[in-house]
Amino acid sequence: DEAERTDRIEAAKAELGDDLVILGHNYQRREIVEHADFIGDSYQLSVEAAEADAEYVVFGGVTFMAESADIITDDDQTVILPSMEASCPMAGMAEALQVDAAWAEITQAAPDDEIIPITYMNSYADLKAFCAEQGGAVCTSSNAADVFEWAFEQGDKVLFLPDKHLGENTAHRLGMEDDVAEWDPWDPEGKDAEEVAESDVILWDGYCQVHERFRAEHIEQVREEYDDANVIVHPECRREVVEAADVAGSTATICETVANADPGETWAIGTEIHLTNHLQRWHPEVEVVPLCGDACMDCNAMRQIDPNYLTWVLEELVAGRERNVIEVPPREAQLANVAMERMLEI
Ligand code: 13P
Ligand code: SF4
Repeated sequence: DEAERTDRIEAAKAELGDDLVILGHNYQRREIVEHADFIGDSYQLSVEAAEADAEYVVFGGVTFMAESADIITDDDQTVILPSMEASCPMAGMAEALQVDAAWAEITQAAPDDEIIPITYMNSYADLKAFCAEQGGAVCTSSNAADVFEWAFEQGDKVLFLPDKHLGENTAHRLGMEDDVAEWDPWDPEGKDAEEVAESDVILWDGYCQVHERFRAEHIEQVREEYDDANVIVHPECRREVVEAADVAGSTATICETVANADPGETWAIGTEIHLTNHLQRWHPEVEVVPLCGDACMDCNAMRQIDPNYLTWVLEELVAGRERNVIEVPPREAQLANVAMERMLEI
C-alpha cells in the first residue's frame, strides 16, 4: 500500500543521501512529486540536475527530458528513468532519420533560401544533434519567439519541429501568420513544395494529443460558468485556444501565475490534468478548475512513471545496481548540447 511504499522510498532516499537527487516534472502524479527534491518544467529540471552534483539523478518525467539531463550533467552523473516506456508521443513524431529524409525535399523546394531548423525541447537528442549540424537550435515554450528571431537573422526560413501548434503560435506572435506552411511527412499531399517556397515558416506536422483536446468553446463555457474566470493554457494548444486565453506559458509559468493569484480568483487551466490537480492542492485559496472539465487528459507517457517503479530503481541503487540508465551516445550528446547552448546564448 501507499504508506508502505512511502516508507520504502524514504528509506532508500536516506540510504543514498547526497548521492541522489529526484526530479519530478509538473505532470507527474502526486505519489511521485511528493518524493521529488525538485519539481518544475522540463528545462528547469535539467538545470537542477546539473546544479545538484548528486551521482544519481532519478528523473520523474519522459525520455527526452532524461536525455537532456544526461547531456547537461557531468559525465560522472548517472540519469535514471524509472520506466523505459515513458516516451512522449509528440517527440516520437519527428524521428531524426525521417527528418533527415524530409530535409532533402524541403531544401530542394527552396534552393535559394537558407532554412534554419529549430526543434522544441520536446524532441529526442538525435534530432537536436541534427539541428545543430544544420545551423539550427533548440527552444522551449518560453523562448520560442526569441529563437525564431535569431533564426531569421541567420537565414531566410525556419523549419519548426515537432510541435506545429507551438510553431504556429510563435509565428502569430511575431506577426507572420500569413507566411506559414505545414509539412506532413506521412501524407504525400501534405508535402507542398510550392507552399514551402512561398512561406517563411514551415511547420512539421507533430502535436500533443493532451493539448490538442482543448477548444475555444471550452474557454467560452468556462467564462459563462465562472464570472471572473481567468484562463491560462500551454502554448502546445491550438492557435484559437491560445488567442482566446488570458495567458499562455510553460508549465513553470502556469505554476507561477496561480501561485501569484489573489485569494478568491478563478483560474481555468488548459494543460495536463495532474498539474491542475497539484495546483488545486497547493493553492486552496485560489479556485483552480480544469479548462475542459472531466474531458481533460493525463499524459500517457508521464503516467508510465509508476511509484512502484520509483521504489524499484531506488532500492536497486541501494543494492548497487543501476537500472534504466539513460545515456546519450557521446557524439550525439555533444552536438545536441551545441543546439541547447545556442538557445542559452540567444
Ligand atoms: P514544459 O516544458 O512547459 O514543462 O512542458 C513540457 C511538456 O511536455 C508539455 O507538454
Ligand atoms: Fe509529450 Fe504532450 Fe505528454 Fe508533454 S503532455 S510529454 S508533449 S505527450
